[in-house]
Amino acid sequence: MRVHPPVDQNPTAPLPASSASTTAGPGVVPDFAPVPPGRPRRRHMVVGTGHRAGMYVAALTGEHADVGEIVAWCDPNPGRVAYYDEQVGSALGLGGAAGLPRCAPQDLEAVVAEQRVDVVVVTSPDHTHAGLVDRALRAGADVVVEKPLTTDAAGCRRITAAVAETGRDVVMTFNYRYAPRNSTLRQVIASGAVGQVTSVHFEWALDTVHGADYFRRWHRDKANSGGLLVHKSSHHFDLVNWWLDDVPSRVYASGALRFYGDRAAAGRGLVGRPRRGTGAQGDPFALDLRADPRLAALYLDVEHHDGYVRDQDVFAPGVTIEDNLAVLVDYAGGATLTYSLNAHAPWEGYRVTVNGTAGRAELEVVERGFVALDEQGNAVLDPSATPGAVTSDPLRPEGERLTVQAHWDRTREVPIPAGVGGHGGGDAILLKDVFRRDLRLGEDPLARAAGYLDGVRAVAVGIAANQSLLTGRPVLVEDLELGVDLRDGATTATAREAGEVAATHR
Ligand SMILES: NC(=O)c1ccc[n+]([C@@H]2O[C@H](COP(=O)([O-])OP(=O)(O)OC[C@H]3O[C@@H](n4cnc5c(N)ncnc54)[C@H](O)[C@@H]3O)[C@@H](O)[C@H]2O)c1
Repeated sequence: MRVHPPVDQNPTAPLPASSASTTAGPGVVPDFAPVPPGRPRRRHMVVGTGHRAGMYVAALTGEHADVGEIVAWCDPNPGRVAYYDEQVGSALGLGGAAGLPRCAPQDLEAVVAEQRVDVVVVTSPDHTHAGLVDRALRAGADVVVEKPLTTDAAGCRRITAAVAETGRDVVMTFNYRYAPRNSTLRQVIASGAVGQVTSVHFEWALDTVHGADYFRRWHRDKANSGGLLVHKSSHHFDLVNWWLDDVPSRVYASGALRFYGDRAAAGRGLVGRPRRGTGAQGDPFALDLRADPRLAALYLDVEHHDGYVRDQDVFAPGVTIEDNLAVLVDYAGGATLTYSLNAHAPWEGYRVTVNGTAGRAELEVVERGFVALDEQGNAVLDPSATPGAVTSDPLRPEGERLTVQAHWDRTREVPIPAGVGGHGGGDAILLKDVFRRDLRLGEDPLARAAGYLDGVRAVAVGIAANQSLLTGRPVLVEDLELGVDLRDGATTATAREAGEVAATHR
């Protein structure tokens, strides 16, 4: 089936050849019923008009324009709103900006009411999610929220209280579930091929282009992102929760900032660094915003509105997140996860090993085999755009491999069907579930569609791990009082109290 790959990925993320695919393998894209004639489109407001918002704007002005439309914007930076408003105008053939209503975050409720917004799409920085989700639900809208659901336990309590009290819908966009390789591993585990899962080993390597990007932007401050264990690893912890169909119960973490940041730089004699990447020459850590028209328009050209610098030096002071992390997670069902994240690897990808009573499954993914430098010594984001450039390393070719080996048997390879577009082929399929879920024909046997409870389960690990980093001790997830029982989704007293506290602050 042909699907339109969305504009999705961070420009520093790897662009393996598979991300250019527009034709999914058999069974990868579920079937949906046609839209009933005359059905009104759902009215969406996009909150946070940065890079990620582009995927939703493209979807609602393109493939999913028959089921939804954008009716309002919310962002403190008018320049970024104008960028997307132009895009909507151009998609609608208006010959200029669409002129949609827009507001600053404090006026969200008024615009939800005035514009009769059905769905608020939250694509703002992580630390703002809880407040925005809570307010959108209480203003009468459903919510689609990007990962991570929130960054701390108070945010979980606030969201679970709002869901319980409004009964409204929150969709978590866990796109990695939809990447065919990750879906296939879920199928393998569910089929019983490895027996009862006893342990999982999961290693994620981010390279010095994509990994470095978290140290240039708002993510570098833990108060904004919850650190990589929340911001990035919530994808990975969600995968493990979902693969095992289980919930985390106890977490121990160790880690530190050892490569990026000013102290590490000084220790390695890296002095006299440029303040920002734009204009820096011969620096493999620099990101020149002028090199990408979209980055220039969304950030460089509109800096004067809010002073946000998107290309800060990764070795500049102010980094409070970790770059090397190790986590041990006990699952309620008895399995153990050993997890590690490194954000300055020379290649990017991941390895997962699932041990079970009947054997072992192994998933190996290389998204970028090496970081190429151009003649000036700058990192090349997309070598395939440069004619003649070396794009593959024979010793570490881009690709994916899923194998299963039962006890007393040889290894067999499990075919992974093709996906569509970026994020391992997950984004395009996710968007169908986000915008046309009610038209889906048949159940999803993989249960990929995620809601707020999956969001809480995923950030629970990172929140507990952050506490463990501070105390040096293991943390029981139930002691975090996240406002909901992770096993059955029952709201707990703390969520109700959080709802009352939030109400007194509105
Ligand atoms: N699922 C994925 O693979 C994926 C990929 C990229 C980003 N994301 C998520 O999307 C979100 C946005 O990331 P991004 O890379 O687009 O960041 P970004 O910095 O490019 O965009 C964030 C936008 O939010 C705006 N903003 C700041 N404070 C706000 C507030 N209080 N209310 C409303 N808007 C506010 C900023 O002005 C900016 O326009 C993050 O939560 C991130 O984790 C998910």
